[in-house]
Amino acid sequence: MKVLLGICGSIAAYKSLEIARLLQKKGSEVRMILTKSAQSFVTPLTCQTLSNNEVYLDQFALTKGMKHLTLAEWADILVVAPATANIIGKAASGIGDDLLSTTLLSFPKSILFVPAMDVGMWENSIVQENVTALKEHGYHFLQPSVGALASGRVGRGRFPSVSIILSKINSVFEKRSVLPDKNFLVTGGRTEEDIDPARVVTNRSSGMMAAELVRAIFCRGGNVKGIFGEVTCPLPEEAEIRRVRTSGEMLAALRDNFAWCDCLLMAAAVGDYRPKKTAGSKIHNKALTVNLEKNVDLLAQVTKRKAGKTVVGFSLEDKNQLSRARDKLKSKKLDLVVLNSPAAIGQTQIKASILRPQGGSTKSEMQTKWHLANCILDECMRQMSDRKRK
Ligand SMILES: Cc1cc2nc3c(=O)[nH]c(=O)nc-3n(C[C@H](O)[C@H](O)[C@H](O)COP(=O)(O)O)c2cc1C
Repeated sequence: MKVLLGICGSIAAYKSLEIARLLQKKGSEVRMILTKSAQSFVTPLTCQTLSNNEVYLDQFALTKGMKHLTLAEWADILVVAPATANIIGKAASGIGDDLLSTTLLSFPKSILFVPAMDVGMWENSIVQENVTALKEHGYHFLQPSVGALASGRVGRGRFPSVSIILSKINSVFEKRSVLPDKNFLVTGGRTEEDIDPARVVTNRSSGMMAAELVRAIFCRGGNVKGIFGEVTCPLPEEAEIRRVRTSGEMLAALRDNFAWCDCLLMAAAVGDYRPKKTAGSKIHNKALTVNLEKNVDLLAQVTKRKAGKTVVGFSLEDKNQLSRARDKLKSKKLDLVVLNSPAAIGQTQIKASILRPQGGSTKSEMQTKWHLANCILDECMRQMSDRKRK
């Protein structure tokens, strides 16, 4: 992917250097345009060294070719991050009075704005009108996060995390469709069941698949909440995530949120077994036998009251994979089952099949969990619209 990164005059400008670095690490080529104000926050030399490419500052520089046209031709996507209230206003009014604003006018492919500004500026009705107008013209936006701002105030205006910006860039570049105005509940990570106050029975699930589902839903404009057990991966800061530890806590969180959702994606690895008894104090025996019993089946519990919701289950199998996954689909009245194997645990890449209740499945070759998350969402949307038609 060839990314043209426009940096504006915001205190968050230095964070764009990390965006450029990570994009390049993942194989993208990056070129940067700095506005005059941006140069008060980051130096052209730093940008040039980091991007390993010439940095573009001046529309009227004495170089060959018209930069606003040649750069627009070169790039696959134009990302303005951070986007100031000023550049948003200029873009919405069709003003081209410097290299970045003129390039915005001549750029024929996808454009993503990642605004950052003080809450008062973000909430200003003129800024909001400009954002709405640009969205109506097909420009993409990643809305700022809520949190502590450089001014000392707290509110919406913070530059989003670099990880969600990278996901959003992928989502826009891959032309992922916008999700309908539906509520998605995602469970992820692993549960722990106590042997004693210090020891637990658990599994190796990392939570990565569910974290990618949350990111994909967020980037495609869906309303998303997460319920996560223990994880060994970063979770998206932008989404509302409730942390739990045991399967009992996860069940309680599911019961609290199930009514809210239109679609439940049950990616959590809930322990199949739990100790029959939990010791009240730390065990010091020379040898220890732990008797395990079958745990409560959370998915079966919540799907008792499914009431028109779309429910997606995950099935991790190493033997009789297809028949076991089909049994799960049928016995729990699921709308989709994602079948994968223990080889996927903790890996960024996954081989999986998506099984449909009508019969048939989509089997994928090795792909990223981000890509699989998006395929699952596309399949969910098909199931939801099929149901609506019926
Ligand atoms: C210290 C400082 C921080 C600023 N931070 C922001 C910001 O985060 N967002 C914003 O919209 N404007 C911010 N501004 C104001 C812009 O820099 C100003 O509107 C400028 O004209 C923007 O130019 P540009 O859009 O061409 O980069 C800041 C100004 C200063 C002095």
